[in-house]
Amino acid sequence: MAKKLISSVRGMNDILPEQTPIWQHVEAIIKKVLDSYGYQEIRLPILEATELFSRSIGEVTDIVEKEMFSFTDRNGDNLSLRPEGTAGCVRAGIQRGLFHNQIQRLWYIGQMFRHERPQQGRYRQFHQIGAEVYGLDGPDIDAEIILMTARFWQQLGLDSLELQINSLGSTEARIAYRQKLIDYFSDYQEQLDDDSQRRLRTNPLRILDSKNPQMLPLIKTAPQLLDCLDTESQEHFAQLRELLDETGVKYQVNPCLVRGLDYYNRTVFEWITNDLGTQGTICAGGRYDSLVEQIGGKTIQAVGFALGLERLVLMLLQSELPKPNNAPDAYFIIAGNEQVTKQGLHLAELLRDALPNLRLLVNCGKSSFKSQFKRADKSGASLALILAEDELINQKITLKYLREKRPQVILEQSELINYLKNLD
Ligand code: HAM
Repeated sequence: MAKKLISSVRGMNDILPEQTPIWQHVEAIIKKVLDSYGYQEIRLPILEATELFSRSIGEVTDIVEKEMFSFTDRNGDNLSLRPEGTAGCVRAGIQRGLFHNQIQRLWYIGQMFRHERPQQGRYRQFHQIGAEVYGLDGPDIDAEIILMTARFWQQLGLDSLELQINSLGSTEARIAYRQKLIDYFSDYQEQLDDDSQRRLRTNPLRILDSKNPQMLPLIKTAPQLLDCLDTESQEHFAQLRELLDETGVKYQVNPCLVRGLDYYNRTVFEWITNDLGTQGTICAGGRYDSLVEQIGGKTIQAVGFALGLERLVLMLLQSELPKPNNAPDAYFIIAGNEQVTKQGLHLAELLRDALPNLRLLVNCGKSSFKSQFKRADKSGASLALILAEDELINQKITLKYLREKRPQVILEQSELINYLKNLD
């Protein structure tokens, strides 16, 4: 009897070879920009103590309440797959002494896990690239982070992302605002949907984030956080806006932008697209000046962001932009006896020594000319190199263009490297 097939876990995708070129393209561009701004890579564990996330992201956030993949290990320790990268980065910074009188500009890439309902653009395992800066409190670094993300889109050729910004003010201002919101929404209890009723008790700011159209009129007339900001935060926000105006980044102030994680204060921002339906937030971040202390370190200011790679890749796939591919430049057809195979493999290595950028796919496994040509065509290579017994005897090599109408070329093997070097 056939064995039962074991499938991947719901919401967790394989990224297949046909898709990896676009992933590599996106990652390479973003890494290059990060590098050009002087950010350094940090590599962090995927598994952390559950408490790290409940203490940082917040006990009453959707992520911690309902979305973590948590378990008790063999020693009885409570662990979770990371739902995001900021908490782990802060933990590593404190534990490894990265924050002592130092400014750090860090970035990371990797899988994150959230037990959400999967749909296009929302998965249970997804990938983020994130950056975090420690030790700077001015609006200039907030602007740098935003400008750097704007440069990602520009370098990727994406022009349909919109920037929304807001300020959440100081923790104290937010506590006062929270009470104002509770007072306001309590007067309209019967008009609140179930989610908002629950949030009124736990996390009233998140009511402002509601996507339920019935809630919108109530939200529109709710007291605005921007009107309740402390003076320093107001100044910080005004200066950030001036910096963005000066550098020509377009943005919208969205007073309802509150973010789903609890650790933010002052600047928050999101890059949004209309191209992906409901999962339109591509990149999000902000300032989190009290998190390091909350996790057990000394007070140190911090700001950062993370972008969702799946969403970015989807955007690129849906765009008219040319799609990168990793097709080989040449496919090496080797047909004949053992001697031909030996010489073929040797020649291929000589080519790789001389032309390190050449993508050369060598046919392995005995097969007919016909099936080797089929494979060559399928590989996407533009050129076939052919070595058969005739060529072996005469020390020649035959070149056949697979995508252009150009005559076949027969070369001395000793001429091959130079010939390939001069091809465009
Ligand atoms: P976040 O808004 O929770 O922020 O996630 C950042 C981005 O990750 C989202 O804008 C989205 O593109 C992507 N994302 C989130 N959940 C999913 C999912 N289930 N499937 C696919 N993509 C998803 C953070 O994670 C913060 N740590 C950002 C940050 C860094 N703030 C300061 N520093």
